[in-house]
Amino acid sequence: MCGIVGYIGKRQASEVILKGLQRLEYRGYDSAGFAILDDDMKILKIKGKVDELVKKDKEEMTEGHLGIGHTRWATHGEPSEINAHPHVGASGKFALVHNGIIENYNVLRKDLEKKGHKFTGETDTEVLAHLIEEIHDMSDIDFFQAVQQALGQVKGTYGIAVVHKYTPDRIIIARKGSPLLIGIGEDEYFVASDASPIIEYTKKVVYLEDEEMAVVTRDGYEVSTLKNITLTKEVHELAMNLEQIEKGGYPHFMLKEIFEQGGTIADCMRGRLMVAENRIQLGGLEGVVDKIINARRVVIAACGTSWHAGLVGEYLFEYLAHMPVEVEYASEFRYREQLVDERDVMIVISQSGETADTLAALREAKRNGAMVIGICNVVGSTIARETDAGVYTHAGPEIGVASTKAFTAQVTVLTMMAMLFGRQNKTLSDELMQELVQELKTIPEKVEEMLRNTDEIKNIARLFTYASHFLYLGRSYSFPVALEGALKLKEISYIHAEGYPAAEMKHGPIALIDEHMPVVVIAATDHTNEKMINNIEEVRARRGRIISISSDGQSDVDRLAEFSINIPEVHDCLTPLLSCIPLQLLSYYIAVNRKCHVDQPRNLAKSVTVE
Ligand code: M6R
Repeated sequence: MCGIVGYIGKRQASEVILKGLQRLEYRGYDSAGFAILDDDMKILKIKGKVDELVKKDKEEMTEGHLGIGHTRWATHGEPSEINAHPHVGASGKFALVHNGIIENYNVLRKDLEKKGHKFTGETDTEVLAHLIEEIHDMSDIDFFQAVQQALGQVKGTYGIAVVHKYTPDRIIIARKGSPLLIGIGEDEYFVASDASPIIEYTKKVVYLEDEEMAVVTRDGYEVSTLKNITLTKEVHELAMNLEQIEKGGYPHFMLKEIFEQGGTIADCMRGRLMVAENRIQLGGLEGVVDKIINARRVVIAACGTSWHAGLVGEYLFEYLAHMPVEVEYASEFRYREQLVDERDVMIVISQSGETADTLAALREAKRNGAMVIGICNVVGSTIARETDAGVYTHAGPEIGVASTKAFTAQVTVLTMMAMLFGRQNKTLSDELMQELVQELKTIPEKVEEMLRNTDEIKNIARLFTYASHFLYLGRSYSFPVALEGALKLKEISYIHAEGYPAAEMKHGPIALIDEHMPVVVIAATDHTNEKMINNIEEVRARRGRIISISSDGQSDVDRLAEFSINIPEVHDCLTPLLSCIPLQLLSYYIAVNRKCHVDQPRNLAKSVTVE
């Protein structure tokens, strides 16, 4: 989704901004632009990739030490140069970049049109630029006050950065619903929608909260509320480093992130899986475990891949801790009758920690008195900050739009939570605890082992590169994995794919099966495998092409499948951590064969900050 980067200091602003915009590409976008202030204000915009903007900048040779830039993911108005940010008002004095949606832009636009304003594009953002200018020109107030008053009229969400041609010593920023931070350098300051564009310059950041604004100059920054109360903000130290957000020799971030999973799962368990003591320690849940296990029910809310991790969590919590769990799409939860209250606990799962729907579900649950626990990857993200307690996944920055290492880290956290709750609840026996602790410890090396040989997956990917549809089937713990495998394939290769609980196949999808239909069967869970074998036979009888993912030694499955990929044997409840990996690779190789844009698939954004 849209990204913002701004700079004020001694460097050439265009260099910092263009590099920053390239670092923000992973969020997904369709056009880009920047405004640089020197003696004058210069604005460059393009439809397409940041590389085009770099070329344009070389031709125009923009100079100046203050500027703001943006990558746009279209919401209002098609992707085009005109609709790209920055936007300016009628006289071109103010330039504005904006993430979020101005919901009442139509009313504001009509009002401004009556006052003589002419608009060039279709975006909600352009309206805000005109509004700031109108307020500024019609009253005796300064740049900051004009932005502040304009925001007072706006309904919706925003993260904005604004510059003013005649006040070329400051950037004004404000946030409501769309993340923004200030990076503190030496005699230079940065603003950005996430830390990736500024990490090579500074690790010191200040996060803006909703309804906060700031003036950022060469000499410092001042933060206040929209109502003008001055604030003293905590300075945070970023944990990520530059290497983590570069490809490190891999052709795509997605492949790098798939191959990192041995390490990221190990990082996620470090200091938490206490092997010698046969216990789990989750510092982020200290003091709240009893409340969680005694809750009337646990509601897990998330979106996309994180929702799939939540489904695995449901199986784990029920099996190991005998806790009643419901898993909700965050986007649906908030519009349902709100029956969650202080007797319940909500767990929100989000890689980015910024997903608008998940954040809204969190706030709804809190409003109703429920305690909310977060499982987030991005440290300091809004969801991480707004939850009552939580556990970080420590997977490191995930840049590929398709979530891979974040998923396995989320499942690792949920597994450890279920074990912790199971011990506290006395539903998890000493023997099983011991078995799971020992097996969890070996997961990172098992992942590494699987990633050492990917030839068969590449071969299957080659054979099915041009399939039009895929079906993914699984039972029990493998059902969410089937959903996740199908999502991975469709988002990066644009092949239609569906995941189903295997038994549901005969209630409809079986009608689709013929000799052109590849069916990926995740048959990794022992206790359901007999039934899975029946489902495989049903597919075979209709000449479907079976690709199986099974545990080592499941010769019955291997015999029936046309292609089979083996994963190391582990306890049933740990299989999702391994069985998802060949599916990630399968989608990756198919997408590469189809020459798709793996890391930034069309129409998708890494962090979905609009509802
Ligand atoms: O950052 P979040 O985990 O909250 O994101 C949720 C979904 O948008 C995300 O998982 C999405 O489905 C991914 N592109 C899947 O690969």
